Amino acid sequence: MSSREHWASRAGFLLAAIGSAVGLGNLWGFPYKASANGGAAFVLVYLAVIALVCLPLLVVELLIGRRTGESPVLALAMVGGPRWRWLGYAMTLNAAVILAFYSVVAGWTLLSAGRTLLLGLPADPAAFFSSISQGPLAIVGHLLAMLFTAGVIALGVRGGIERLSLWCMPLLFVLLVAMAIWASTLSGAGEGYRFYLQPDLQELLRWPTLTSAAGHAFFSLSLGLGAIITYASYTQGQEGLGCQAGMIAAADTAVALVGGLITFPLVAHFNLLGSLSESTVGTLFVAIPTGMASLGGLGRWLAVAFYGVLVLAALTSAVSLLEVSTAAFIDRLGWSRRRATTLAVAAITLLGLLPASDSRWIDVLYTVFGETGLLFGGLMLALLVGWGQPRLEGEAPLVVRRLLRWLGTPVLLVLLVQSLLHLPQVVAPLLQS
Ligand code: PHE
Repeated sequence: MSSREHWASRAGFLLAAIGSAVGLGNLWGFPYKASANGGAAFVLVYLAVIALVCLPLLVVELLIGRRTGESPVLALAMVGGPRWRWLGYAMTLNAAVILAFYSVVAGWTLLSAGRTLLLGLPADPAAFFSSISQGPLAIVGHLLAMLFTAGVIALGVRGGIERLSLWCMPLLFVLLVAMAIWASTLSGAGEGYRFYLQPDLQELLRWPTLTSAAGHAFFSLSLGLGAIITYASYTQGQEGLGCQAGMIAAADTAVALVGGLITFPLVAHFNLLGSLSESTVGTLFVAIPTGMASLGGLGRWLAVAFYGVLVLAALTSAVSLLEVSTAAFIDRLGWSRRRATTLAVAAITLLGLLPASDSRWIDVLYTVFGETGLLFGGLMLALLVGWGQPRLEGEAPLVVRRLLRWLGTPVLLVLLVQSLLHLPQVVAPLLQS
């Protein structure tokens, strides 16, 4: 284990973990899901799930990673016994499938940023978006995103992931806050905030609202698929885990909330609230450039900043997804980092051709793997730590184990069953055509 890589600094690890959590889920998924699922009702469920279920699980993933110094397959076998090895494999596979569609959306952000930077805003944003969202250009975007992600991972934990996070995350925060302040000065901002946060409490009684908010909380915190276990396995020392978990969750939630404070005022200012409630995957990619174009030359640079934020957020998350598979090959098969990265990237890139060719796959893969899969991973961890006898030598705080046993397990069980029942509805349209 002595040859294993480590983070150079505590700040580097924290920024990398926050970089994994803060991603397209916060800036693209959260606002449109919140608006489509009852505004503040969605936000309330989201916050409750984060505080009561995700935070204890985040502590557990950090603890398992740090304690074992291994990626999920070996780590779970060490903590739960060999019987739990399958969960490590399932998580690793889940991370690979998520990256396959995540990198397609990351490709949209790269192409949108590149086009706006080099050529200005497209004259017809809807047509531009439909040209890049599936088909040959989407494949190019996907390849670019995978290439970049692979480059970072091949450079290693310190030289790649940590260095990227130390540069990107502060830049991302500054750009985000600056954009939120600017958005608050727009006429119509108030209407946007109201649309975003008006509580439709009836939504709290609908299962799809509950499962999508809970699933989204897992996705947003990168929980339930071993990304946090993997990152934590490169830490040393005994720093307060609760404190680290709190900082990661707080930063991730803050970015999601601030993301909404940017997009809703903008969309309201440009009179596009109607198009937002259609809640298609492409809303932001069409609504934002449409609005920005009306601001003339300045709009182009604001759009570059906006897409720049999306690119930074997407790539730091994609990197963490790829590290799960890469670390599994390195730890399990003793491969070199370069060889492990090459194989993982080749397989995931191939799989990504599916969602890149037909964007309806993104929704399906997100629901099956990004929502249901993560709830499943979370439930299994809750069972292992809340009910089993994990070899964590008294390190898992009692309150965490109790929460997972009496609250996490039943809540996750119900949510998982509900989301499984909902799956046929999501997959059906794809099978019909
Ligand atoms: N948390 C990331 C986001 O919000 C996505 C992600 C999920 C990354 C799972 C790693 C693991 O976009």
